[in-house]
Amino acid sequence: MATALESKAEKHVKHTECFIGGQWQPAVSGKTFETINPATEEVIAQVAEGEAADIDLAAKAAREALENGPWGEMDARDRGRLIYQLADRIEAEAEELAALETLDNGKPIGESSKVDVPLVVDCLRYYAGAADKIQGETIPVRGNYFTYTRREPVGVAGQIIPWNFPMLMVAWKWGPALAAGCTIVMKPAEQTPLSCLRLAALAQKVGFPDGVINVVPGFGPTAGSALVKHLGVDKIAFTGEHTTAQTIQREAADTMKRLTFELGGKSPNIVFADADLDAAAAGAHLGLYLNQGQCCCAGSRLFVQESVYDSFVERLIEMNQSRKVGDPFDAETEQGPQVDKAQFDKVMKYIELGKNEGAACLTGGQRVGNRGYFIEPTLFGDVDDGMAIAQDEIFGPVMSVLKFKDVDEIVARANNTMYGLAAAVWTRDIGKAHHLAAKIRAGTVWVNCYDVFDAAAPFGGFKMSGIGRELGMKALENYLEDKTVTLALG
Ligand code: NAI
Ligand code: MG
Repeated sequence: MATALESKAEKHVKHTECFIGGQWQPAVSGKTFETINPATEEVIAQVAEGEAADIDLAAKAAREALENGPWGEMDARDRGRLIYQLADRIEAEAEELAALETLDNGKPIGESSKVDVPLVVDCLRYYAGAADKIQGETIPVRGNYFTYTRREPVGVAGQIIPWNFPMLMVAWKWGPALAAGCTIVMKPAEQTPLSCLRLAALAQKVGFPDGVINVVPGFGPTAGSALVKHLGVDKIAFTGEHTTAQTIQREAADTMKRLTFELGGKSPNIVFADADLDAAAAGAHLGLYLNQGQCCCAGSRLFVQESVYDSFVERLIEMNQSRKVGDPFDAETEQGPQVDKAQFDKVMKYIELGKNEGAACLTGGQRVGNRGYFIEPTLFGDVDDGMAIAQDEIFGPVMSVLKFKDVDEIVARANNTMYGLAAAVWTRDIGKAHHLAAKIRAGTVWVNCYDVFDAAAPFGGFKMSGIGRELGMKALENYLEDKTVTLALG
């Protein structure tokens, strides 16, 4: 039976069509696809299945809004004001938006309301304040010339996002793009299109001019690929799997698009014997199991120093045994279902692989119930660096614990991955902490904490974990072109 909040969320499924040039419209083909509630496996709604023809309309609407609409002429401070108004509107509808997110994605309502929505609001406010602080330079050059730079919007920004933080990814992408003065064509993930469509409706309500924000729901190889190849799209910002990013790089070559990527990871979380072990255990648990393990920065390789390994693993087992898995609309729930059947199957495959590779399955390892994509919090001990569960991004509630001896050995082992998104170090020795922070090849290093995000702090990957940075003033660079202007004086 649906809880009160759940039925409330279903009432809020108001937007299931493409949003193009300020109009809600079905896909040109008339096709739709189902979006599923992963807790019940039931269909929530039929959503317009955008393809190349819809992307083309959206790209043209975005171009028109950029070049001929009020947006292109708007003062930066007024752009910022609109972004502030969107943030306010989201805050006013926080409860409904959190419920919609939980319905479509399966994340616990406690998280969508206390983590996702507040971070969305904070991120948009940060970029609202940034809009009028984008400025060029005056440059001394040889001769009797005056040279300055203008920082102009890159143009029409194509944005492709995943399903793990559907609404937050919208904020991370829209915030800097709008602050920079771009117009947007977004393709939300096919698993979770609803909150993005709702945010587009709120943007329209607060007064964003038609065509500034366009949303085309649909699948990657059709709508996503059409966005990547479109001549009228200047840039692609993508978050998702690195193999998809590689396809995008190839497909974007012909039109020379600007590309930024925020991809996956296999982040090392390193616990030294001299750390506050209670804090480290809590941080390790959160760092992996948060969001059903569906985090790009999940601390999925947990290295524990050998002298405290056994007692530390005991703590991890206890926490897993008391973790509440179940109805994401129950305020007490800590872990909901995986987002869909494909992800559920992928995670279960890795659990089998871990067992077959000889790792010790210390908790979990099974499906929970027989309806919805729930998986027990799973813990593998005695994991070797070469095992697939220590190398591949599992993207589920599966933790691998590895033993290490000392600081000399750990740097190479931590870096022994194709990824480089995040890392954490737990120690009371500040010298060791800074040494590792410098040596680990990752875009973010947390010391004595995990998953600390802030709109002002850049986030992104080394190596296969991405190109460019999101968040902070850094992310504005992704949406700007520098223009050098030189005037002859006299
Ligand atoms: P994905 O990379 O296929 O999907 C992410 C987005 O890209 C979606 O909007 C999708 O429709 C779009 N897309 C897919 N193929 C495309 C193409 N050829 N051209 C343009 N856009 C395309 O990721 P997926 O399949 O949902 O998940 C697979 C694995 O990727 C996960 O198990 C996880 O390991 C990783 N992943 C990492 C994320 C992160 O935050 N770094 C987020 C989601 C997935
Ligand atoms: Mg895929």
